[in-house]
Amino acid sequence: MDIIEAIEKRISCRAFTDQIPDAETIRKLEQEIAAINDESGLHFQLYGPREDGTAINMATNMFAANPPYYAALVARKDPVEEEKLGFYGERLVLVAEMLGLSTCWVAGTYDRESARVELADGEVLHDVIPLGYAPEKMPLKQRTIRGAIRGRSKKQDELYRGPVPLAQAPEWVQACIDAVWKGPSAINEQPVVFVQDTLNGPVRAELSRVKSGMEYCDLGIAKYHFQVVAEACDIVGSWQWGDGGAFR
Ligand SMILES: Cc1cc2nc3c(=O)[nH]c(=O)nc-3n(C[C@H](O)[C@H](O)[C@H](O)COP(=O)(O)O)c2cc1C
Repeated sequence: MDIIEAIEKRISCRAFTDQIPDAETIRKLEQEIAAINDESGLHFQLYGPREDGTAINMATNMFAANPPYYAALVARKDPVEEEKLGFYGERLVLVAEMLGLSTCWVAGTYDRESARVELADGEVLHDVIPLGYAPEKMPLKQRTIRGAIRGRSKKQDELYRGPVPLAQAPEWVQACIDAVWKGPSAINEQPVVFVQDTLNGPVRAELSRVKSGMEYCDLGIAKYHFQVVAEACDIVGSWQWGDGGAFR
């Protein structure tokens, strides 16, 4: 599976089998986390099975089972740090997907007492990412939750503001917006709008509103999906950090 297929296939997984990932899979996850921490200054961590074979207790009203591993996403409380946490956290999610694992971004619906994490001064555990194998058939509980939340998705053209409607925007921009639309966001708010003043001008990523604070993480996730697909369309660039930052 390549990274574009991973974007297509990824969904929030809220049920896991009791299969434990093999040592090679875990080594690759650890390598990716080390590379991310080196590059970003973030403090991501990986935790594995306790005695019962699971790693953390997920809230039972949202999850049908606990996962065998999870990543703890740690950063300072600061908008740019949280945006980076979204950007690099989604990079980890897509690597996990390419390794055959399933994931979910989780800010709230888990038992904090059951989470192991190392925090340096000023650091916060913002999210956990359960990692494990999805059951072949999605349990009814997960189907119901997913249907209720994802059913409220925005239309793709609400994620673009340019001199023309999205359907007439450059093809590579349309492909990037499609990938952003497929991405995760906290309570599926999809708060990031991509703005272009002229058809060949730079694309900027703006937050439509900031309410919960989790939008900065959503901004980083959206920027990552955009960048991956731009690169696949031979438009190689990188983002300025921050609300309103441009893709150059
Ligand atoms: C920052 C962030 C926090 C999230 N927190 C939770 C959570 O606490 N519990 C949960 O079940 N899903 C959580 N989600 C998953 C979203 O509900 C999900 O991404 C969204 O509904 C879109 O569905 P999809 O990921 O299946 O495409 C979170 C997602 C993000 C990006």
